[in-house]
Amino acid sequence: MLSSKLAIVTGGGSGIGQAICKKFAASGARLIVADLKKSAAEATAGNLPGNGHSAFEIDVSDPEHVARLQEFIKSSGESPSVLVNCAGITKDATLLKMSQNQWQDVMNVNLNSVFLMSQMIARESVAAGSPLSIVNVSSIVGKIGNFGQTNYAATKSGVIGFTKSAARELATKNIRVNAVLPGFIRTPMTEAMPPKVLDAMVSMVPQRRLGETEEIANAVLFLASDMSSYVTGTTLEVTGGLGM
Ligand SMILES: NC(=O)c1ccc[n+]([C@@H]2O[C@H](COP(=O)([O-])OP(=O)(O)OC[C@H]3O[C@@H](n4cnc5c(N)ncnc54)[C@H](O)[C@@H]3O)[C@@H](O)[C@H]2O)c1
Repeated sequence: MLSSKLAIVTGGGSGIGQAICKKFAASGARLIVADLKKSAAEATAGNLPGNGHSAFEIDVSDPEHVARLQEFIKSSGESPSVLVNCAGITKDATLLKMSQNQWQDVMNVNLNSVFLMSQMIARESVAAGSPLSIVNVSSIVGKIGNFGQTNYAATKSGVIGFTKSAARELATKNIRVNAVLPGFIRTPMTEAMPPKVLDAMVSMVPQRRLGETEEIANAVLFLASDMSSYVTGTTLEVTGGLGM
């Protein structure tokens, strides 16, 4: 589905981003695995099937790092046809206790990065006259909210608004922009939770289980590929029915 296409996945060193890299590579893509953790990015890239993958150490919330990635892309002479904005963090606290740093850090990594990365890659695509699919990994929390996550929920709602606005602006430029909203997914983060909290979460899910990272990757693959050529500005909920 992505035969010989070049794809950038941010946050590709772990969890959902890593699953997306594996799914894309198995579908024929060449990956730029972009992550804050160099060793994690290299480990992902090194274990992918196929050839032509690379790892790129980047803080996606830092404009200078994004500019460095732009130079890397320019020097390779090929504009990517897929960008997945997947890097994300949580810094949970109730509103009454949240510090300004907890608020700002989550804004920077989860939302500002989506602006920086999407603008940079979209400009490259327009300059090259090549098609692009941007897939933003939001969260069902951006639609329904979550206790202790005013910062995170605000960023994930922001990503949805960004996605729809960018999709409108870029539709005639052969650039599609969509978002995936995962529900509760089995990752190191959820596995570290106390069983009681996890059970309470699962009981809210109509399908009564956590999602797997591969199930998110399947949805992202659909939106990244030409299978979704007439789909832009949409939000695809992959939640086992949570938040429908
Ligand atoms: N796990 C879930 O249940 C769930 C649910 C809904 C949405 N999401 C979203 O999916 C995405 C991935 O989540 P995950 O659970 O796989 O997380 P994870 O922590 O396993 O992976 C996140 C990756 O992003 C990288 N990263 C963090 N900050 C970065 C930065 N500034 N620059 C570049 N890379 C950075 C990390 O190094 C890590 O490799 C996030 O956007 C998250 O909000 C996750």
